[in-house]
Amino acid sequence: MSTTNKILSNLMWVEKYRPIKLEQVINQKEIVNGLKNLIKNPYEIPHLLFAGPAGVGKTTTALCIARELLGEDWQRNTLELNASDERGIKMVRERVKEFASVMKLATDTNDNVSFRIIILDEADEMTSEAQTALRRIIEDSSKTTRFIIICNYLSQIIEPIQSRCVVFRFMRLAKEDVIGYLKMICEKEGVKYEEKALSQIYAATSGDLRHSINILQASAGMGSVSIANVIASIGLSGKTKVGEIIRSAIAGKFNDARIKLLELTNVYGMSETDFLKYANQELYDMKLEHLDELAALMAEFDYRLAVGAHPEIQLSALLAQLGKLGSKGK
Ligand SMILES: Nc1ncnc2c1ncn2[C@@H]1O[C@H](COP(=O)(O)OP(=O)(O)O)[C@@H](O)[C@H]1O
Ligand SMILES: [Mg+2]
Repeated sequence: MSTTNKILSNLMWVEKYRPIKLEQVINQKEIVNGLKNLIKNPYEIPHLLFAGPAGVGKTTTALCIARELLGEDWQRNTLELNASDERGIKMVRERVKEFASVMKLATDTNDNVSFRIIILDEADEMTSEAQTALRRIIEDSSKTTRFIIICNYLSQIIEPIQSRCVVFRFMRLAKEDVIGYLKMICEKEGVKYEEKALSQIYAATSGDLRHSINILQASAGMGSVSIANVIASIGLSGKTKVGEIIRSAIAGKFNDARIKLLELTNVYGMSETDFLKYANQELYDMKLEHLDELAALMAEFDYRLAVGAHPEIQLSALLAQLGKLGSKGK
């Protein structure tokens, strides 16, 4: 880890309080127990497939396994890739080749198991063609490489991959576990909190611990974890959500963007005009091409909302238009 990364990971509570060992992972008891059993026979460990919602410990668990299986050298022998990255499958192929050639040279003096681990996040963003290519790679490389494939929706993973992995379904975290974790952090950080404010955080994040910790940290940064500060922090995290939505839309992920938009307006209660305002700022910060068309687009939707057109329909249409603009820019 670089020095900057180290500083950042100490500043960000989500990183600072990311479990290092499997037994520190909360709530996912059956999964942890199942995995502990599998790890007992490192040479027989199968490929793993983790499915479930955001912020419940999928990536953390994958990293814990890599650490426990590969020992001190784990980072050198673990590759974390994001499959939604366009270079995803190409990188996987190249790295697997590289791993395989190193393996041939390696002597057997190493105490730890002599395979490497590829953690492939957001695999459900891959097209089925890419997944078919991945399946080939998994088969060809199984002597040298174990895969931990992570996705939100199992149904988006092709059956031949599912059948080559042991599947673990991660659940949303229970309220008392999330609140317990937040309390632990407050105590370690010496931060004052109101019990009700912690419940409020849970209600706004429905079991997404990453999001919960981010809101906790933002509130603590305002002085204490009080209801007022939590509400203000949820608003702030809403602003960063607008950025995520805009980026998804421009990347052509319309459905994803639309679901997040609905969540933002319905669950977080962000008004449509605020959405448009933040979206506008965000778009200019992104320094896209076709700024003239973008300006015209934003003005048009601003007008439509002002004259009372149905906001949800209009904003969905805006996301679709952004997708078109995004594909032009490529
Ligand atoms: N089950 C869990 N136990 C302990 N911490 C968790 C758990 N789930 C999430 N976290 C916290 O949230 C952060 C994000 O978790 P992560 O494993 O990246 O979620 P996912 O990959 O499921 O989206 C972690 O760094 C950790 O601080
Ligand atoms: Mg993850």
